[in-house]
Amino acid sequence: MLRLEAVNKAYNSNGDRFFALQDINITIPQGQFICFLGPSGCGKSTLINLIAGLEKPTSGQVIFREKPVTAPGSDRVVMFQESALFPWLNVIENVEFGLKMSGMGKKERQEKAMYYLEMMNLCEFSEAWIHELSGGMRQRVALARALTLPAEILLMDEPFAALDVQTKRMLQDELLRIFEETKKTIIFITHSVEEAIYLGERIIIMQPRPGRIKKDMIIQLPKPRQRETLQFVNLAFRINEEIGA
Ligand SMILES: Nc1ncnc2c1ncn2[C@@H]1O[C@H](COP(=O)(O)OP(=O)(O)O)[C@@H](O)[C@H]1O
Ligand SMILES: [Mg+2]
Repeated sequence: MLRLEAVNKAYNSNGDRFFALQDINITIPQGQFICFLGPSGCGKSTLINLIAGLEKPTSGQVIFREKPVTAPGSDRVVMFQESALFPWLNVIENVEFGLKMSGMGKKERQEKAMYYLEMMNLCEFSEAWIHELSGGMRQRVALARALTLPAEILLMDEPFAALDVQTKRMLQDELLRIFEETKKTIIFITHSVEEAIYLGERIIIMQPRPGRIKKDMIIQLPKPRQRETLQFVNLAFRINEEIGA
């Protein structure tokens, strides 16, 4: 279980102090697929960085497994919009990287990396260089790399935002399948209402200046969700009204 308690994050810009996040209180049970939805600038990435331990709150606490988060840890892995892969390593070396750092032997980590590359339909590309891959393939490599780690929480900051619609939909379905298989907690950031409804069991609507939680909704639509159904479209309409789009 992850808990944010009265979390504030202030930044100074041009001598002014403003709150990127203000009074964030939320409890996220283990194994939930939760989407944070909101326009750019509402503090979504800041929130991910706080949970990841890459930044510290100005006040308040992020509590994971009953302990305050003070630094990054292998129990929380982050995946960004740009895949942050190493261009000097090939595909399998990228996927193995975290395992190598943790001291796992070569044979074992290669087997593990291949397992996740297979899951992502990338076996044939294990020896390819990153620059040879499409954007969608890069994100699949990044996802494979994230899955090799024993992280309980997968933090995803608009991971599919730069992809074309077809690739995006394919990866959304793969992610849902992985969620069912692994039962990880997935904290997924998006500015797309459709994406949030398609994926999320729960949607947190954020609002900017200062970044706050506006609404916390459980999404009851049965899975797999159909984007064209009346229920889906109605919900999208309601959420858009809520956001003020
Ligand atoms: N390191 C920083 N220093 C100053 N301002 C920042 C910093 N990081 C983010 N901000 C500001 O905080 C606000 C929220 O940013 P961010 O969390 O990136 O929002 P989002 O991901 O929702 O677009 C923005 O106004 C952004 O400019
Ligand atoms: Mg962001």
